[in-house]
Amino acid sequence: MVSGARNTGIAVVGSGYVGTVVAACMAAVGHTVVAVEINAEKLAKLQSGSSYFFEPGLDSRLRAGFESGRLSFTDDFEAAMAQSDVVFLCVDTPPGENGHPDVTSVTAAALSMGRAMHSPHVIVTKSTVPVGSGNWLTSTIESVLPDDVEQDVFSVVSNPEFLREGTAVEDFLHPERIVLGGTDEDAVRRVAAAYGPILDQTFPGGSPESRPTLLTTDRSTAETIKYAANAFLATKISFINEIAEICEWVDADVEEVAHAIGLDSRISAKFLQAGVGWGGSCFGKDVEALAATARAHGQEPHILEAALRVNQHQRYRLVRKLQQHLRPLRGSRIALLGLAFKPNTDDTRDAPAITIARALLERGAIVRGYDPMVKELPDLPDLQTATDLYSLVEHADAIVLLTEWQELVDLDFVEVASRMRGNLVIDGRNSFDPARVRAAGLVYEGMGRGVAPPNGRNGTW
Ligand code: UDX
Repeated sequence: MVSGARNTGIAVVGSGYVGTVVAACMAAVGHTVVAVEINAEKLAKLQSGSSYFFEPGLDSRLRAGFESGRLSFTDDFEAAMAQSDVVFLCVDTPPGENGHPDVTSVTAAALSMGRAMHSPHVIVTKSTVPVGSGNWLTSTIESVLPDDVEQDVFSVVSNPEFLREGTAVEDFLHPERIVLGGTDEDAVRRVAAAYGPILDQTFPGGSPESRPTLLTTDRSTAETIKYAANAFLATKISFINEIAEICEWVDADVEEVAHAIGLDSRISAKFLQAGVGWGGSCFGKDVEALAATARAHGQEPHILEAALRVNQHQRYRLVRKLQQHLRPLRGSRIALLGLAFKPNTDDTRDAPAITIARALLERGAIVRGYDPMVKELPDLPDLQTATDLYSLVEHADAIVLLTEWQELVDLDFVEVASRMRGNLVIDGRNSFDPARVRAAGLVYEGMGRGVAPPNGRNGTW
């Protein structure tokens, strides 16, 4: 039982895409926050007052946090633990072996927190960890507690994170629900209290008319909620992408199909955007992890595996479309519009652009890319990037939209046509207006917009 806390400060361990947003927003709603980042380069950037990655609205929140004196960054666990009684654990859990997430950073953070724990704390798990990790985390921290503190000096509460990159600040401050999982009622109450201004929407800029729902449950259920939410969204995207391929065979338009079925409130219009499929650091990793959990218990995760297969197939489909139109593909000049896994982020983790660019290069195509925020693909250092959009399309045989940044969607197709060598436009996000593209004399093909898919129904790499 956590009791007798000395102060009401918040610590955030791991200042990445999630942790930095949590720290900046918790300071914005009135808490004193210290965030721990052990990477020296990232820490220096954060201490200088700005983020080392692009997230709309984050830098201004960081600046406001510094100016108010309520936000600081450090690499000193002892200091952070001494200044806090609620700790948000936000370190990364990248893909590991056999579909399970790699919990190296969680283990290291748990050991550092345990060694520096001299007073009561609630550890709030925001890192996406395998179901059941709350118990393992507790044991790991217990194993290194200082001799003079009781084993029950801390408690672990699971608090799954539903932030989307690109809208993370808004998502954190105006969530639809907050889930807290733990059996220590006092600890859960403390975390709920930390979320008080957000639950009541009483902070400056809050929306008291639309308050989030607070759900309290046990730890395993909270951990499962996170995986189930991401798996459902990912499956919904794969579902509409499978429908999109069927649309191509029967000369139907998936955009109209999605619109019509989305008007049914049981289905809802969100996450029915067909295209080249999902990317990012969460969907693939979390669906794999949930499938691995099922398999570890002797259960076949049929739907999850299908969702993953369909998503991989989208990238293949796009390459096949280019192969069908550009014969031979070898030597063809292809311009990739957008490299980030989605607009309004510079994140390229599991971006479709990486798989597609690699496949095209392997097939002998000449590939260049452009993205408003991404200047190189770390996984593909050989990919040439253009500094501006119109020089990218110069002499291209085909242009391919992979990330629907507004700047790319608003392309001047007459200008593009005058600069291209060929005339093919593949819309991997169904975001261009086909009529506008065709009016410029270009050939338009989207994903599931009534053009039969190239030979081979169930092709994969
Ligand atoms: C996702 C979840 O939405 C969020 O709740 C969780 O905390 C982390 O994972 P994120 O990965 O930031 O967030 O982006 P999201 O907006 O969900 O998009 C994920 C991918 O799906 C992107 O590549 C996007 O382009 C794609 N997508 C999304 C589609 O292809 N079609 C859609 O209809 C929606």
